[in-house]
Amino acid sequence: MGSLNSDHELKTNSASFNNPMDSEEFRRQGHMIIDFIADYYRDVEKYPVLSQVEPGYLQKRLPESAPYNPEPIETILQDVQQHIVPGITHWQSPYYFAYFPSSGSIAGFLGEMLSSGFNVVGFNWMSSPAATELENIVMDWLGEMLKLPKSFLFSGTGGGVIQGTTCEAILCTLAAARDQILNEIGRENISRLVVYGSDQTHSALQKAAQIAGIDPKNFRAIKTTKSSSFTLTPESLQAAIDLDIQSGLIPLFLCATVGTTAITTVDPLGPLCDIAKRYSIWIHVDAAYAGSACICPEFRHFIDGIESADSFSLNAHKWFFTTLDCCCMWVKNPNALIKALSTNPEFLRNKASDSKQVVDYKDWQISLSRRFRALKLWLVLRSFGVANLRNFLRSHVGMAQLFQELVGGDNRFEIVAPRNFAVVCFRVLPSASGLGNGKANEGANELNRKLLESINASGQLYVSHGMVAGIYFIRFAVGATLTEDRHVIAAWKVVQEKLDGILATS
Ligand SMILES: Cc1ncc(COP(=O)(O)O)c(C=O)c1O
Repeated sequence: MGSLNSDHELKTNSASFNNPMDSEEFRRQGHMIIDFIADYYRDVEKYPVLSQVEPGYLQKRLPESAPYNPEPIETILQDVQQHIVPGITHWQSPYYFAYFPSSGSIAGFLGEMLSSGFNVVGFNWMSSPAATELENIVMDWLGEMLKLPKSFLFSGTGGGVIQGTTCEAILCTLAAARDQILNEIGRENISRLVVYGSDQTHSALQKAAQIAGIDPKNFRAIKTTKSSSFTLTPESLQAAIDLDIQSGLIPLFLCATVGTTAITTVDPLGPLCDIAKRYSIWIHVDAAYAGSACICPEFRHFIDGIESADSFSLNAHKWFFTTLDCCCMWVKNPNALIKALSTNPEFLRNKASDSKQVVDYKDWQISLSRRFRALKLWLVLRSFGVANLRNFLRSHVGMAQLFQELVGGDNRFEIVAPRNFAVVCFRVLPSASGLGNGKANEGANELNRKLLESINASGQLYVSHGMVAGIYFIRFAVGATLTEDRHVIAAWKVVQEKLDGILATS
């Protein structure tokens, strides 16, 4: 690692220090980094999946201040290997089964490189026409792959935009819905607006409501139950709306989910939209994880009813082989979004924008500056082709099915929720906890918590947990690009061994 007086390094690497974009030096260092990353992917299977470091580990290893003199890439890369890699939780490991995947691919990664390479700031059309136009095109391509109605596409009357994350997508659509209604009824009525989701909806909705100025008392996380597979039922939505209207409140926004975070359940879009439409509620469909699967004909039915929604989003950086960040969002009424999010300072005025012939994406998102994200999605779509994308998604679902069968073959375990996609929710049965009936569920929760900790502490695989109706369970999410059947089978062995160990000592 560099010291304050390394004049020697200054001389030996002078090219890059005289010109930080010297193309030959870029080629040399770039190849080293590519080699480094290629080796990382080759070896990633060997690393403990969940980082095993203690809080504050890095402070102890790195100098207290930035180096005064430049340091060579060779030294920096050595430090990455020695000090950074141990503090990485390896989302790209084939043994990564936690949360939702962050599936990478050569295409996604190289697209990201191209985007960083050009390093343009495409806030409006003129600032980089290709960035805007490619985004228009890939969003229509993907929309067509999902069989979204034309009303969501540029080739119809809507359009798509790549946001950073679903949190941003929900906030932007909520702001559009809010302003649309407040422009009609007066801004002083903001305290009467109500936002609806379920107790399974991602916390992104609550955060968006907070930021958008919705009174926290008017945020509805409608209770779901096991009898309806923890989906938001039309009856419960109707009941909540009725109560709010009786209280003089104004229903504003509904977030329905396709693939909820805990158990990947799917809200019934059609019936929910039928109700929401009666009250002119803006309906956003959050398919952050599961939306990708809907490019396969056999999974498309999960978004049946989408034609009645106002906006739809999915995270291509979750399960679509595109590097973080890449949240694809479509809206039927771009004007509502633009009205809520646009500002037009003099310094950004230009002929193309004034002509209204172009899309200025700065008006579709929170920030002004934006990256050329469409490149990576374009590379993914072209390098895989629809056929391969479908095959990869199907293979993940197949591996989840395999894991489910393995769980089913051991009578100490149960599947906690029906599997819709590539996430298996399972737990050790209460009977294995050894506690009597009254405390069996509590005992099972404790036992499953212990099992999860023991699995993750081993570093051999990484799983996460969920909780529904008081039941703590383990989530096994297949989707890391390098995962194969053998990893799933080995992972299951670890789960069984860890349980054996816990039961033997309790
Ligand atoms: C259903 C759902 N919605 C929203 C999010 C939040 O996504 P982001 O981190 O892109 O905001 C997640 C994350 O896992 C999710 O599962």
